[in-house]
Amino acid sequence: RVPTVGIDIGGTKVMAGVVDADGNILEKLRTETPDKSKSPKVVEDTITELVLDLSERHDVHAVGIGAAGWVDADRSRVLFAPHLSWRDEPLKARLTERLRVPVMVDNDANTAAWAEWRFGAGRGENDLVMITLGTGIGGAILEDGHVKRGRYGVAGEFGHMQVVPGGHRCACGNRGCWEQYSSGNALVREARELAAAESPVAYGIIDRVGGQVREITGPLITELAREGDAMCVELFQDIGQWLGVGIANLAAALDPSCFVIGGGVSAADDLLIAPARDAFRRHLTGRGYRPEARIVKAQLGPEAGMVGAADLARLVARRFRRAN
Ligand code: BGC
Ligand code: NA
Ligand code: ZN
Repeated sequence: RVPTVGIDIGGTKVMAGVVDADGNILEKLRTETPDKSKSPKVVEDTITELVLDLSERHDVHAVGIGAAGWVDADRSRVLFAPHLSWRDEPLKARLTERLRVPVMVDNDANTAAWAEWRFGAGRGENDLVMITLGTGIGGAILEDGHVKRGRYGVAGEFGHMQVVPGGHRCACGNRGCWEQYSSGNALVREARELAAAESPVAYGIIDRVGGQVREITGPLITELAREGDAMCVELFQDIGQWLGVGIANLAAALDPSCFVIGGGVSAADDLLIAPARDAFRRHLTGRGYRPEARIVKAQLGPEAGMVGAADLARLVARRFRRAN
């Protein structure tokens, strides 16, 4: 029952932590994700540094990675990552060689779903869909405690379903993807646009950043929305509504009993979840004649991906010990 390390590599932040067998975080480190223009090696350097740092104070027996990208069916390569430089990257082999402990690699939303099912809001739910709102939208389908991966490992890429034909260009190359309308990036893009246009509704936020539009971030918008800033509250209503529309579509396709909403943006709580629930009900097909799934906030918050990665690493390490 030794602790393991979990690392969540998102489009903006890397979070690394030592997690015990009950999902408790013993220590946590955070750093910025290297820019997309940097080589995959730079991200691997960052991961290695974090693990070495944690190893100074903890016995690290296994490392789990929750990566913001498309992980292949063998869970060894990252096929593609819209917000990172990985293109068919043999991440598991590279990290195993450098860290010299068993390494588990999975998609970040998959590891978050696992953590919520094991320790959080999804306990006891046998048909669960996880949606993480961060830089992009992450998704995962969990049935009877198993992540559904599809044939090639890429199931659950909900963020790249088209919701607006001809809409905003996405980092995946397409237009109108869901994550262009309901994510941290969407929130920041809209706020910056309003501020840059010197819209009268944006005076509050312009003031807070001293006119430096580039300094507008998701956490700042959340803070202002909590203080009642009308523009920021409205931005959350917008992305919350898009969230609800997407969830209604997912209910039509997958019919889970529960949607768990995680990722950094979910810190906004009801500012986000309430409009999402409203839109979900309005758009749910067959409404009134079918059971309605619950929409709940991730209990482990933005740490779910990291905790899940650590827990999955524990399982992999156990299998490794038995085999050797
Ligand atoms: C990626 C997913 C990832 C999600 C959240 C999306 O843009 O395609 O693989 O899970 O962002 O990080
Ligand atoms: Na996924
Ligand atoms: Zn896309």
